[in-house]
Formats: sequence, C-alpha cells, structure tokens
Amino acid sequence: MSQATPKAHQQAGNLWSSRMAFILAAVGSAVGLGNIWKFPYITGENGGGAFVLVYLACIAVVGIPVLIAEVMVGRRGGQSPVASMRELTTVEGTRKGWRLIGWNGIIASFLVLSFYSVIGGWALSYVGKAASGMFAGADADTIGNTFGGMLASTGDLMLWHSIFMAIVILIVGRGIRSGMEKAINTLMPLLFILLFIMVGYATTTGKFGEAVSFMFSPDFSKLTTEGVLTALGHAAFTLSIGIGVMMAYGSYLPQNVNIARTAMTIAVMDTGVALLAGLAIFPLVFANGLEPGSGPGLIFVTLPLAFGQMTGGLIFGTLFFALLLVAALTSAISMLEPVVEWLEEHKGISRAKSALFGGLAIWLVGIGTVLSFNNWADFHPLAFIPFFEGKTVFDLLDFLVSNLMMPLGGLAIALFAGWAMKRQGLDDEIGLKGAAYSAFMFVLRFLTPAGIVVVFLYNLL
Ligand code: PHE
Repeated sequence: MSQATPKAHQQAGNLWSSRMAFILAAVGSAVGLGNIWKFPYITGENGGGAFVLVYLACIAVVGIPVLIAEVMVGRRGGQSPVASMRELTTVEGTRKGWRLIGWNGIIASFLVLSFYSVIGGWALSYVGKAASGMFAGADADTIGNTFGGMLASTGDLMLWHSIFMAIVILIVGRGIRSGMEKAINTLMPLLFILLFIMVGYATTTGKFGEAVSFMFSPDFSKLTTEGVLTALGHAAFTLSIGIGVMMAYGSYLPQNVNIARTAMTIAVMDTGVALLAGLAIFPLVFANGLEPGSGPGLIFVTLPLAFGQMTGGLIFGTLFFALLLVAALTSAISMLEPVVEWLEEHKGISRAKSALFGGLAIWLVGIGTVLSFNNWADFHPLAFIPFFEGKTVFDLLDFLVSNLMMPLGGLAIALFAGWAMKRQGLDDEIGLKGAAYSAFMFVLRFLTPAGIVVVFLYNLL
C-alpha cells in the first residue's frame, strides 16, 4: 500500500497531461461497443422511439449527475476506487458501508470485461473479414451465415477473445499515460468522421425517413418494464459509470480541471456517437428487410451489407471495423484499470504483473460468454427463476452488471456525494457556482436517486 494517502496520484505527479488528455481518455472509455454495437440492437429489441426517449432521460437525470459525482469522488480520493472510498469514509467521517462502492466497482469491472472482450473479439475478426473483400456484393443470407458461422465456432471465438485480451493486457501493463493518450487522440476523431460517412450513405438507401421515425417517434405501447430498466442500465453502461472506472480515471485528474464542464462534454460526445450509429444502421435494416429486434448480431449483419454495395466499401468497411475495435479497446482498457490499480496498491504487485494476472483471470471467466454462443447456447443456469428463463451465461452477466451493478453503484455514488460527504469537499471539486451549483445539488440529491429507485420499483412490482 505504498500510495495510500489522499490524492496519492496528485502528489506523485502521476496525472493526465491536460484536461484534453482526460477528456479523450474518458471519452475513450465511454464510447465503445456500447454505443455502436449495443445501443442499436437494444433499441431494436425494445421497439425504438419510446426506448430512446427513456434512455435520453436517463442520461440527463442519472448519467450526467453520477458521472460528475463519480469523477469528483475519484479525484478527492486520489487512489484506486477501493482505497479512495476507504480514505473518504474516514476523512469525511461517514459510515463504513459506503466502501462497498469500491468493491462493487472492482467486481463489476472484472465481470463486464469478461464478456466485453468476447464481443471486442468479433470486431477484431470483422476487420479481417472486411479487408478480405468477402462482403463485396454479398446478399443478406450470405452475410448472416458468415456471422452465424463465427458464433458457432468455439475455436474462432476463443482465438479472437484471447487476442483481444492480450492487447488489453499489454496496453494497461505499460501504464496509463504512455499507452493510451496517443492512440485515442487521433483515432476518436476518425471514428466520428467515419460514422458521418456511414450516416450519409444510409440517407441514400431510401429508408432513412423510416429509420428516423423508428428511432424518434415514441410508441409507449412497445416499451416493457424490463425495457425501462434496460434503458437505465444502458445509460450507466454507455457512460462507464457506477463501477469505479470513472472514479479510477478521476484519481489521475489534475486539480485545476472543471469536472462539471468536462462531464458534460463527455456525455454529449457519447450520446452523439450512439445516435449516429443508430442513424447509420436502421436505414439499412429497413432497406434490406431485416429484423430490428434480431439481437447482438445486428451491426454485424447490416453494415457488411452496406459495405458490400457501396463504392469504396472495402476500404470503408475495413476502416470502420478497425475503428470499432479501437473504440472497444479504449473502453476495455478502462475496465481493467480499477482491477489493476487495486492489485498494485493493495497487493503490492507490479503494474505489469497486475495487468497480466488480472487479465488472465478475466479471460478465463470470458470463456463462459464464448460458450454461450455455441456449446452452451441452450444452457440457461437460472431458468428456474421465471424472469431469467432463456437467459444464457452471457445474458445473465450482461443483466447482472449492466442492469443491476451499474445503476445501483450509480445510486450509491449519488447518495454518497449528495448526502454523506461534507459540503466543503463538493465545493472544492465540482467547479459549479451559485444557482448552477444549487440546481446540480438538487438533481443529485433528489432526482437522480428517485429516478433509479422508481425504475427498480417499477420492475419489481
Ligand atoms: N462505456 C463503454 C461502452 O459504451 C463500456 C464500459 C462500461 C466501459 C463500463 C467502462 C466501464 O462501450
């Protein structure tokens, strides 16, 4: 526990090089498979507009306030999430129970990376597939079979999952600064540009209007109670909040950076990418008579169709999946960070070894997700509970982390920052004044917790 002092990272000068560097890293964490892979497919599964509306409301009422609170707690604690929470509960004289926030974070980031890596592996595999030209002129059936074939092969999925995890371990093992800032700096803007190109292409398919109305005209009869919970969970997932990742990143944040403004920037960029991804994908779904609710394969069976038909599709397709891979990697890196920070600071293991051991354990658990798509496709461990009927190991992990641990972790963080911490701490860190500060505190103390509690009650009853 060499660094267990308040603001240890600040004192050691182990910080992001600037506000921009932090924004890029935090956006790198936030923007990922959640925006481009998950948002479109869960929007499709939950009937479109009404789901999107609830999701946007959750970003505003829960996502942004919790993001601000979490980064703030991270900077104030200045260490790994577990150590920061231990420190703050002591310094602020609050109950020790709040320390569970730190543990929830370590466990959830461990679990989420185990399945995230498998999906990241799909993106990796599709870089090669797109580059090989196999999508050129292919029809929907062929492309669907390619995806199905990949899922059916345990060996393929294991290979891609393993390579993906190996890359993550290598980057995290090298340290927070040297590995990441540079990559994110150039690749994020490129991802934005490519998404715009894809949306531009989608407007030419003739079904753009249908897609816009699917995404933006709410039909509440299509929204289930589980859909509302999924929207809340996704708001947390997509902003990387509730599990200590933003807390860990906040611990490296220089003191002069304005947290509130920075958090807004992150949320706007993240939401922008998700909406752009939807606008790129749904026109193609409708134009090709595909099923919007077809599940996790949605982007892997729609986008290759477009790449196969458009001019320059080989280049655009390869570039797109490469960028998706990078977006997935920058998120995955942030998931490993809390685990590694914890091993380093509490177990006294070197950074490189922490990354290796932590990463290997996560890789091992990830095999459960790999098998969920083939050998274990019909294995439903909790089928005896009616609600979990038909859920595979992957479905259960996703549900546990995204729909329970992240929103409940977010609730705990909002309550801790809003009610348990002394006002001085908030004043020092948040960077809001006067009416803006009062308004923010009102939202954080009342609306955010109420929003989360209502969604959970609604689901239980
Ligand atoms: N926000 C990331 C995404 O949208 C996922 C993530 C969740 C990353 C939690 C870190 C922590 O893909």
